[in-house]
Amino acid sequence: MNDVLLLGASGLAREVVAAADGRIRVVGILDDNPELQGSRIDGIDVCGTVMDAVHGSIPLLLCVGAGTGRQAIADRLAARGVGDERFATFVDGSVRIPPGSTVRAGSILLAGVVLTTAVRIGRHCVVMPNVTLTHDDTLHDFVTIAAGVSLGGAVTVGEGAYLGMNASVRQQVTVGARATVGMGAVVLEDVPAGQTWAGVPAGARLVRA
Ligand SMILES: CC(C)(COP(=O)(O)OP(=O)(O)OC[C@H]1O[C@@H](n2cnc3c(N)ncnc32)[C@H](O)[C@@H]1OP(=O)(O)O)[C@@H](O)C(=O)NCCC(=O)NCCS
Repeated sequence: MNDVLLLGASGLAREVVAAADGRIRVVGILDDNPELQGSRIDGIDVCGTVMDAVHGSIPLLLCVGAGTGRQAIADRLAARGVGDERFATFVDGSVRIPPGSTVRAGSILLAGVVLTTAVRIGRHCVVMPNVTLTHDDTLHDFVTIAAGVSLGGAVTVGEGAYLGMNASVRQQVTVGARATVGMGAVVLEDVPAGQTWAGVPAGARLVRA
């Protein structure tokens, strides 16, 4: 069994604790909230702050829901010499990674995620339950895909982008870096970087400025 330390006392951390099925053992949670120090979350000790991770060699998982938050912590740790080699990946036991598909360091795939073929998942991505990623999809680093999202073939999701629950993205579309797609959206065309799109069909006009 592989030990792992979770960074961020979040709902996502609790989901990883609940999904740990004997292949990993969560040995602690690090969080910068002083009020959480010494507490237990779902049976796991909060035993230090995020930067305490620079000491020791236990593999790490960033459990912060927002990709921007994960990126900020990864950058702080990298500045102290903690690189990709220190990070685990977590793939729920129900998920099959087919030959030719890749999941890079720090990424978390929760129950029921489907990868059909030639799917590339970058560093520190979070893919929530029952997401369907089809042929030739690419998730760049720090992407977050909420539960129930479906991507058609050859979709590209840029660094730090966020796709809300049950959104669908047409084949060959690109969601730009740090863009947000609202829950339930049907995305038919490229979403520019940094924009928030929602609705059916999805567009920027549906969301207040
Ligand atoms: C799209 C989203 C990011 C917008 O959030 P926001 O900027 O706070 O926007 P608001 O809630 O102020 O809503 C602004 C407008 O957009 C509409 N809107 C918000 N979300 C929408 C959605 N998903 N689809 C269609 N319209 C939406 C609102 O009704 C409102 O319309 P109005 O101006 O006519 O009143 C958010 O609603 C969303 O869908 N987030 C994803 C949630 C999710 O998947 N969570 C998973 C957690 S694990």
